[in-house]
Parts: sequence; structure tokens; C-alpha cells
Amino acid sequence: MKRGIEFLAIAILVTLAMACAPKADSGAAKQIVIGANIYSFADNFMNGVMKPELERYAAGKGAKIEIVDSEGQQAKLNDQIDVFITKKVSVLAINLVDPASASAVIAKAKKAGIPLILFNKEPTEAGAMASYDKVWYVGTNSAESGIIQGQMMVADWKANPSWDKNKDGVVQYVMLKGEPGHPDAEARTRESVKAFVDAGIKVEQLALEADPNWSTQHGNDKMAAWLTSSFGKDIELVICNNDGMAFGAINALKAAGVKLPLYGVDALDQALTHIADGEMNGTVLNDGVNQSRATLDLAINAAMGKNVTEGTKWSLTTDGSKAVRVPYLPVTPANYKEFRK
Ligand code: GAL
Ligand code: CA
Repeated sequence: MKRGIEFLAIAILVTLAMACAPKADSGAAKQIVIGANIYSFADNFMNGVMKPELERYAAGKGAKIEIVDSEGQQAKLNDQIDVFITKKVSVLAINLVDPASASAVIAKAKKAGIPLILFNKEPTEAGAMASYDKVWYVGTNSAESGIIQGQMMVADWKANPSWDKNKDGVVQYVMLKGEPGHPDAEARTRESVKAFVDAGIKVEQLALEADPNWSTQHGNDKMAAWLTSSFGKDIELVICNNDGMAFGAINALKAAGVKLPLYGVDALDQALTHIADGEMNGTVLNDGVNQSRATLDLAINAAMGKNVTEGTKWSLTTDGSKAVRVPYLPVTPANYKEFRK
């Protein structure tokens, strides 16, 4: 009997010890650590939409994400990537500061053998994406935002003959442009105006000012200066590459007691309020929530050595850009309520 109890006690102890022992190679999932950055925490869209969704979605997937602020400096980002590599993160999710500096970033990831998802700022160097088999891009089709913004403006211009203040049949516009060389800024600037030309409507650019930070301050300062310039009274339309700059322009217009048709891109919550208040005529949804989710779905799959789109709703482009492109959508006074959170 005594021996029986001893045996039972030993059996229980062994079972307990086995249950408590660390599971070596038992197939238990390894914690995925994502090393990420935002090119600047001062950016309305990146900091206000993408960063919180990256954090929320990673937590929901049980992945650990560290997001650092690159403060608008590519050199700082390069150092941050070195730190992530030293820490042996499972995967990198990188928002380039300089879209022409992708190859250096890709080379670092390749040397360390760490998969890399670039997001929001598409590399502009030819061949960069092909230089590593474990790099992918998540963003949009930049031109689409300019085309949609342009089509909205053309339709409204046609419907509002009074917008042609000097009745010359020409659209006298000012343009608040984002970062020069950024594919989104270049495409929006080009395509928004091209929509008028394609519709047979003549355009005249009265002024254009670019800001690498896409900031509200820039929008305010430039719009205020334009309104008091020699052509101030001739402005008929304000085209903004993003909502952040549009908010600044709205401030300046209000301060001057002037009302002008004005359009942005991003569909931030504040833009929906400006549309509701009649201070903005339209914007374009830049779907940062789905871009964040796609970035992490690909990142997590890559970290696990899976096919990046496996089990996700995303598909990669087939044109060699190795990209997931999330669509843009028009946001107007007629449909803005659908975009309220
Ligand atoms: C764009 C966005 C801008 C700005 C920029 C930063 O996609 O529309 O508001 O955030 O990215 O790269
Ligand atoms: Ca005119």
C-alpha cells in the first residue's frame, strides 16, 4: 500500500514537472516582434490614422509592435533600423522618410535576413523592390487619389457657374502640394488638374507651394499670403494634396472672411466636419485603417515564413511592384456621413 502511494506521488510530481517545464521545440507559437516607424509623428494622417490602427491591430493579432518617430529624417530612420536589427525583431514595417532612399533600407534588411514591409511611401528608385525577395509594399495607387479629386472638382465646377468669378471660362486655382518627390504628392498635383484638361476646361495656376511635412501650418501661411497678394481676388479654387494643409487654408480663408471652393485628400474626421459645415467641398478617403491592416497581415505572414498574402483578403500586384494597393474613395457633401466613425 505504502509503495502504491509513493508511486502515485512520484507520478503526480513527474506530471507536474512536465507541465511546468519550458516547451522546447514543442511547436508553440513564437512571439512575433515588429519593428516599425512613422516618418513623422507630426503628420496628421500617419499619426492620427495609421499609428493607432497599427497598434490596435497588432495587439489583436497577439504580435508585439514597437513604433518609433523618425522625425522627418532619413538618417534617423537608418539608425532606428540598425537598432531593430540588433534587437533581432522578427520583421520590419517601415514608412520611408525619403522615397528615394529605399535601396539602403532594403539592403540593411537583406543583410540581416529580416523580411521588410514598406508602407505609405512607395520607393521611387527603379529596381529597389527587385533587389530583395523578402520586401513588399503596402499603400495605394497614388494617381487614383488625384483622379478622384479632379473628377469631383470638375463635376462641381460644371454645376456651379458662379465659381468662375471673372467669367473667362478658365479655372484660376492655387495648389497646396505635399512633399516634392513623394509619389502621392506628385500624382495628386498632376492628376487633379489633368481632370479639368481632360474635360475640356482650361486651367490657370496662380500659385503652388510644396511642404515636405504636409502641414496645417503650411496651408495656413501660404493661403494667408496668397489672399493678400496681387492675385488674391482672382483665386477661384483651392486644391490641397491632403486634408492637413486644407485645414490651414480654411483657417486663413475664415480669418480673411473669404469663401472659396476647397478640396483635400485623406477624409480625416475633421474634414468630414468641415464638409458638414460647408467649409470644404470634398475629400478623398485615404484608407489608412486597411493600409495598416494589410501592412501587418503581410508582416506577420512574412515573419512566420508563409506566403505573405496567405489567409488574408489582400492580393499582390502582378506588375513587379510587389504591392498591395488599397483603393481610394470620393467623399462629398452627399455621402460624407457614411465615413463618420
Ligand atoms: C499621404 C497622406 C498625407 C501624408 C503623407 C505622408 O498618403 O495623404 O496626408 O500623410 O501620406 O507620407
Ligand atoms: Ca475664371
